Amino acid sequence: MKNRMCEMFGIDVPIFAFSHCRDVVVEVSKAGGLGVLGMARMSPERLRRELKWIDEHIDGKPYGIDILMPVSYQDAGELKFDPERLFPKEHLDFVRGLLDDAGIPKLPPEDADALVRDLLSELSFTPAESARMLDIALEHPISLIVNALGSPPKELVERAHARGIKVAALAGRPKHALRHKENGCDFVIAVGTEAAGHTGTITSMVLWPRIVDAVAPLPVLGGGGVGRGRQVAAALALGCEGVWCGSIWLKTVQSEVIPEIKAKMFAADSDDAVLTRSVTGKPCRTLRCAFTDAYDAPGAPKPLPAPLQNILWWSEGRVRVERIRAREFLTYPVGQIVGDMTAQASVRDVVYEMMDELVEAQQRLHAMFG
Ligand SMILES: Cc1cc2nc3c(=O)[nH]c(=O)nc-3n(C[C@H](O)[C@H](O)[C@H](O)COP(=O)(O)O)c2cc1C
Repeated sequence: MKNRMCEMFGIDVPIFAFSHCRDVVVEVSKAGGLGVLGMARMSPERLRRELKWIDEHIDGKPYGIDILMPVSYQDAGELKFDPERLFPKEHLDFVRGLLDDAGIPKLPPEDADALVRDLLSELSFTPAESARMLDIALEHPISLIVNALGSPPKELVERAHARGIKVAALAGRPKHALRHKENGCDFVIAVGTEAAGHTGTITSMVLWPRIVDAVAPLPVLGGGGVGRGRQVAAALALGCEGVWCGSIWLKTVQSEVIPEIKAKMFAADSDDAVLTRSVTGKPCRTLRCAFTDAYDAPGAPKPLPAPLQNILWWSEGRVRVERIRAREFLTYPVGQIVGDMTAQASVRDVVYEMMDELVEAQQRLHAMFG
């Protein structure tokens, strides 16, 4: 394929892959697309290791990083991990009661240290930590920086551009996309509500062409609900110049997802990908589980603001749940295309199948106008 996004990065197909998994990043770039490593929740040491590994395995192909540069997070810099002080009693009782009633064992004391370590790396959401992570990433041959929350600061854009690195940002509304353009982004990623993770309420079908028109002539990638070739064709038809996919890689052999969660995903339908504040405190689309159901039930407490809800779920729920892999509570961010995800495949096969189906769609449309 040939278009501005392919030319910008010297790639064969304008398929951009968000993943927290270095293997997925490498495989997508080697299959002709562009892998982007999500850096959230990584310690600086782990980030160094992951980027070094990518550099050693990616055969010189381009790749990018996705960084959370928060603007509106409550400052958790002074946080001492003391659940009783940190969380309102109602919330602690709610989550603890839920897991106790389900018979999920409490954490043994020896796990407490690991928990605090995890939580501290979770706080890399703060602006100071994000800036440190960016410095590490700039020591590597990255081609793209994607800003996950809000517009990238102009200084970041200037630093990146001075090194020949492109910058983009996610937008769930046209006004956010315009702000990204003003701040100097090279392209915008329009993400519809179908998407996994933090997302807005406008569907891709409506959002993509609105953002394409709003930021023209800047190129736009369509994200949210893209996992197959017909959806790539739809994105291109709506004016996008490529796609941004996250959920589809979760089903791959290479993905970071544990088998128990993969099995739940393969059995799930699209409406099992629920938009909830119960996991992070912000609207986040994730696989429905007993925890998200409990917060949806009448009388449940209102989720705490970010990042507190995230820390509450992580420390009081997730660690206990994952220790014994308690199926009914296991969850992971995933978008509505989960209903289409029914079996494992390699990353390479996913990319090739997308391209095959795109070509079929293009031929079918072409024949209609023949
Ligand atoms: C497991 C998972 C975690 C995600 N975490 C982030 C993140 O940390 N930063 C970010 O910008 N987007 C994150 N996303 C969202 C993706 O960037 C992307 O917008 C989304 O997956 C696209 O929609 P799709 O899921 O329908 O493909 C995540 C997606 C998944 C699947």
